[in-house]
Amino acid sequence: MADYDVIVIGAGPGGYVCAIRCAQLGLKTACVEARDTLGGTCLNIGCIPSKALLHASELYHEAHVHFEEMGIVGAAPSVDLPKMVAYKQSTVDQNTKGIEFLFKKNKIDWLKGMGSIPEAGKVQVGGETHNAKNIVIATGSEPSSIPNVEIDEKTVVSSTGALVLEKIPGKLVVIGAGVIGLELGSVYARLGSEVTVVEFLDHITPGIDSDVARNFQRILAKQGLKFVLNSAVQGVKTSRGKAKVTYKSRKDDSETVLDADVVLVATGRKPYTRGLGLDDLGIVRNKGGQVEVDDHWQTAVKGIYAIGDAIKGPMLAHKAEDEGMAVAEVIAGKAGHVNYGIIPGVIYTSPEVATVGKTEEQLKEAGRKYKVGKFPFMGNARAKSHFAGDGYVKILADAETDRILGAHIIGPAAGELIHEVCVAMEFGAAAQDLALTCHAHPTFSEAVREAALACGDGAIHA
Ligand code: FAD
Ligand code: NAI
Repeated sequence: MADYDVIVIGAGPGGYVCAIRCAQLGLKTACVEARDTLGGTCLNIGCIPSKALLHASELYHEAHVHFEEMGIVGAAPSVDLPKMVAYKQSTVDQNTKGIEFLFKKNKIDWLKGMGSIPEAGKVQVGGETHNAKNIVIATGSEPSSIPNVEIDEKTVVSSTGALVLEKIPGKLVVIGAGVIGLELGSVYARLGSEVTVVEFLDHITPGIDSDVARNFQRILAKQGLKFVLNSAVQGVKTSRGKAKVTYKSRKDDSETVLDADVVLVATGRKPYTRGLGLDDLGIVRNKGGQVEVDDHWQTAVKGIYAIGDAIKGPMLAHKAEDEGMAVAEVIAGKAGHVNYGIIPGVIYTSPEVATVGKTEEQLKEAGRKYKVGKFPFMGNARAKSHFAGDGYVKILADAETDRILGAHIIGPAAGELIHEVCVAMEFGAAAQDLALTCHAHPTFSEAVREAALACGDGAIHA
């Protein structure tokens, strides 16, 4: 038994970042993690492994689609899936080991095992109970399925199983056209699978600017992904390592059955708080299972906080990290703050999709007068030389003040470009501020400047 200023439960991006910031602020800190490695969903079975597979499959695809045109000739490469999965795992290992190193460097104790909170001020791990002046719940989330669909992680997989398939499926059916479905669907489409995405809504990527979503679907369809929209999956039956997916059209109630070698269930994630003892403590959760917190991430019990996927808001690693840092500062008596209005979202497909701030739909609904500055990557020299002219940068600015209200990018390196706009928004910048900032040539970033120019007197290369 030891006494700590803070015990963080869960070592995902919310928890490990919180623990490091607590230690940096001089607090005696421990972090409980049940997994064999640190880093949570993100490093082990989420952001990092999926991006490794996206990177490898994108290069493979590029080699087949564009190399010859650029004068790079020779035998076309083929895929050794076990080797690709091993590369993915080595990327994961480097990152999880890196967090272990940071824990040692910052003198954070890793309490190995499942943690629970028997009473305020105490955390139990295995047979040991530790005292903690403050407890931070950072236990993350898990995949959520739909009725009549049982995930076996072999034929019917969640994202976790999709990251370790033993062979490339001939036919992959993806349930859900959200972020996971499109990222991992892209991976296998590039590697040669016939990918069909069945989506309940009449559009893909709910919540994203609808103009971007439409263009995104068109581009993905060109890459070979098939979309069945407005259709509710009724169930999946498996037999001898194959699956049949039944879906019902929401237009005419007709039922269709799709054959699949593998089915990826990507219908969202739900908070994971099992075994913590929250009910006995009187810690309230909402209908979706998210832990209720106040503006300082404190639960109904004083000294117990919650962050990341376990609470409301977008289920994103950087949102969890920001909350981790902010709650550490609150605990240390400082002013922790997260600007929820400026949290970027990125889909790491090719092209990437990146968004921040308000969508056009949200501005219309709020009755706010706005202007749109749009610039296509076809007008960007660098993008054209990279065969990446599909897509555009769209900046939304207040019609009167020119203040930037949102940005939506579909195109090369969109996930990097968006941060220029995030910083501008943090400083309350006008579109003209971006437009007057010199941007190096030739860069993809010039497209951001051109979109900002398009909010005023006009883009140059449009
Ligand atoms: P988690 O990362 O889920 O970590 C929680 C940790 O707590 C886990 O390690 C768990 O073992 C541990 N734990 C739970 N209960 C206990 C207990 N009682 N005792 C001890 N330990 C416990 N987000 C992005 O921003 N960018 C991306 O590119 C991205 N890609 C993703 C790809 C996939 C396939 C998936 C599934 C998710 C992706 N996400 C991405 C989402 C991102 O992974 C999550 O938003 C993020 O990991 C949430 O962080 P967290 O710290 O709240 O929880
Ligand atoms: P999601 O919420 O993004 O998408 C789920 C999709 O499934 C929705 O479009 C929904 O309409 C659809 N759906 C639900 N029930 C259905 C049914 N019965 N039939 C057909 N379609 C149905 O969830 P997803 O993709 O599982 O991702 C979970 C979380 O992980 C997301 O919140 C996301 O933030 C995070 N994530 C983030 C990534 C990133 O930032 N690049 C990458 C991967 C995951």
